[in-house]
Amino acid sequence: MKRIGLLAVSAALGVSSVMVAAQHEDHGGSSGAQTSTVAQTSNVAQATFNKEVLPILQKNCQVCHRPGEVAPMSLMTYQDARPWAKAMKTATTSGKMPPWTVEPEYDHNFTNAARLTKAEVATLASWADNGAPEGDPALKPAAVAFRDGWNLKPDLVVEMPNDFQVQATGAIEYQYMLVKADFKEDVWIREAEMRPGNSKVVHHGEVWVVPPGSRWMKNAVPGVSYSASKMPKDPADGIDIIGKFNPGLGAQTFDFGGSAKFIPKGSDLVFEIHYTAIGKETTDRTKVGMVFAKGPHATRYYTSYGPQARNLVIPARDDNSEVVGEVTVANEATLVYAQPHMHLRGKDYELRAIFPDGESQTLFRSKWDFNWQLGYNFAKPIVLTKGTRLLGISHFDNSPANRANPDPTKEIRWGLQNWDEMSNCFLGLVFDAKTDPKSVFLFTGPSLLPVGPPGPTLAMVKLQ
Ligand code: HEC
Repeated sequence: MKRIGLLAVSAALGVSSVMVAAQHEDHGGSSGAQTSTVAQTSNVAQATFNKEVLPILQKNCQVCHRPGEVAPMSLMTYQDARPWAKAMKTATTSGKMPPWTVEPEYDHNFTNAARLTKAEVATLASWADNGAPEGDPALKPAAVAFRDGWNLKPDLVVEMPNDFQVQATGAIEYQYMLVKADFKEDVWIREAEMRPGNSKVVHHGEVWVVPPGSRWMKNAVPGVSYSASKMPKDPADGIDIIGKFNPGLGAQTFDFGGSAKFIPKGSDLVFEIHYTAIGKETTDRTKVGMVFAKGPHATRYYTSYGPQARNLVIPARDDNSEVVGEVTVANEATLVYAQPHMHLRGKDYELRAIFPDGESQTLFRSKWDFNWQLGYNFAKPIVLTKGTRLLGISHFDNSPANRANPDPTKEIRWGLQNWDEMSNCFLGLVFDAKTDPKSVFLFTGPSLLPVGPPGPTLAMVKLQ
């Protein structure tokens, strides 16, 4: 009955809903034979590269899958994409590609949700299943012209003073390089863009503002690259993120109703980069471009560490260990961006707000992927009034089943090294420029509990 119903709807709505039907059949546990009957009796069977597939790749994949970019293969032409037809089916059906970690029901909260529709997934699948035909060249859309230069007009460009030597193979630890920027006066920045020198190897990265008095990288030699484990960051240091790179991100604005990023006089910059080895030795010299915003500004954009669970304890071998951190808003701020952060045992992260009137709202739930460290731009900024509690609810897989797990026999505590764990969520906040960034949030509730296994868990939190 169910299948007939879907087919009837498909007939009324046309090709794309047939694809949706085929997709539902896949997930609904129907036999493969039935699924292919649906596909073969519909137009989906005729999906060709030129007409149906290429537009999907242009819109969702080529930003990374083109020569010189971070993905290992190009998906620009039929010749490029044809050998990857089955792999594309697998990667898109599983949701691995395009990379996006928010759970679908929260996608609408974010402007940068990167997800194929069910119809698009079904089109790629049926194209692969039907021998990946090229189709009529006359139906091919024009090639997309990608921008290779700056997405902004920088007033100031700061470049890594030395190349980073990228090894040919193997995993490369996150790298930190200090630049003695030595800003002679306070500076306000409206927009910034981090641009890889060599986008084949720069997977993602950040440029940090390290204000005078911060301890992080204090003894670092400028221009020398340090592995992250040698120079752990200190979340209490008042450091801020000025530039960020993920493939396709472009320039970022800090102007939310007139706000700007503030770089205090005497600050230095640190480039943090996750490199991928590409089979041969190469180099990278990444830079950040900034557009000044003439001050003074009434409001500033600051990237906070958000809720943290520095008292976390994850039992050995636990495959679903819960950890909760909490902050309470002491000075009103507006939330425009969120980027959860965990290490190799992280599974998922939820950010929940409990407003002073008691209303509780889950802002998102997301899967955790250590490799991507994605950030989410809120479609509607969220006003965090004084007294609002923000809960970060995370789960960890410390079992041997987690292939990234460095050691399932260990009880894990908070630490900045990859083999320790963290649970926090970087938050892009806009608040009064006179407010000290350190005074916006207070650690409260579970974040104040003594260290004791396991948790802190949600069961220990007073929700009202
Ligand atoms: C943000 C950049 C980015 C986007 C967008 C992206 N990819 Fe990828 N893709 C990568 C990178 C990097 C890899 C290699 C590392 C990995 O597998 O995570 C990859 C790997 C793949 C693989 C190999 C998978 C495997 O398991 O070996 C396939 C197939 C693929 N992508 C298809 C796609 C398709 C199809 C799209 C669009 C629907 C897409 N990708 C969008 C960056 C991207």
